[in-house]
Amino acid sequence: MKIAMFSARNYDTDHFTLLLKQVPLTFKYFDTQLNINTAILAKGFDAICAFVNDDLSEAVLTKLAELGIKIIAMRCAGYNNIDLATAKRLNFDIVRVPAYSPEAVAEHSMTLLMTLNRRIHKAYQRTRDANFALDGLVGFNLHGKTVGIIGSGKIGIASMRIFKGFGCNILTYDPYPSEQAIELGAKYVELDEIYEKSHIISLHCPLTDANKHLLNRQSFDKMQDGVMIINTSRGALLNAQDAIQALKSGRIGGLGLDVYEEEENLFFSDHSSEIINDDTFRRLSACHNVIFTGHQAFLTHEALDSIAQTTIDNLLCLQAGDDSPNRI
Ligand code: NAI
Repeated sequence: MKIAMFSARNYDTDHFTLLLKQVPLTFKYFDTQLNINTAILAKGFDAICAFVNDDLSEAVLTKLAELGIKIIAMRCAGYNNIDLATAKRLNFDIVRVPAYSPEAVAEHSMTLLMTLNRRIHKAYQRTRDANFALDGLVGFNLHGKTVGIIGSGKIGIASMRIFKGFGCNILTYDPYPSEQAIELGAKYVELDEIYEKSHIISLHCPLTDANKHLLNRQSFDKMQDGVMIINTSRGALLNAQDAIQALKSGRIGGLGLDVYEEEENLFFSDHSSEIINDDTFRRLSACHNVIFTGHQAFLTHEALDSIAQTTIDNLLCLQAGDDSPNRI
């Protein structure tokens, strides 16, 4: 089977190449994003391998079907970038990597939180300039604070374990409660209670049509002043314009974002020599209490190994005519 991998970066290909030595799959790596202009690169291949910001809209899927592509192997968990109705109509086999390392993402969420809380980003800059003044660096103890975890799936649970270690009280919301969360001492409540009682809110649910802009002006209005919000899930779960207002009023005391609604044309590439035209992104990144990372929560060796291994297993499964447990 010949597979065209889009949005391929060195950190992906290093992990795939090692594992491909023993298997009958031929990968060609393209560093370009998949979109209507680049879909033609898939000509002559049997399958494509795509990532979170590749475009799998109706137009692109139609083009891929015309080129004879039968299989789409997502090397990520989320698949909100696929037009599923069109994919079904065109009979694509779609597989994904449902879990590669929940701990990688949970630990990154915690990294964003602790950086913001203890002002590590400011301290780093100051101490490099031999400025050891402590004004403006005061944080708070996590011990005894209330954390609201929205989405108690694999990453939500991994986050709860960490917060439990810090001695936090855990509130959670999920339409499908988990025994594991209850055993960890989390209390299931409605979203409003999370908004009202949490000092920290961390998002760990998928993006769906129903929860777009889940965090918006109305929800910020219900939160405590100075609340810390962490989003490593999907950018569109949070209304960035409303977040700017909530930052200005002091309602949000810290915002840690690994994802951004308009990240598609920004993240995963170097734009350091360009003027960024996205004014919302510029306003947010200008705030001292907002930290962005560029969708890197998953980026550990363990997660990359697991992504490569599961993607290869998924493709071998389909190649052998078997059904894959990771089919969408
Ligand atoms: P999961 O499928 O194990 O858990 C998701 C949970 O969210 C489920 O329990 C589900 O019932 C719940 N849920 C669904 N709709 C909800 C809603 N409206 N409100 C509250 N809960 C809701 O998924 P997992 O592995 O924990 O991943 C969560 C999300 O993290 C993914 O959907 C993806 O968007 C994001 N992610 C981000 C990564 C990054 O590098 N930044 C890497 C991997 C995942």
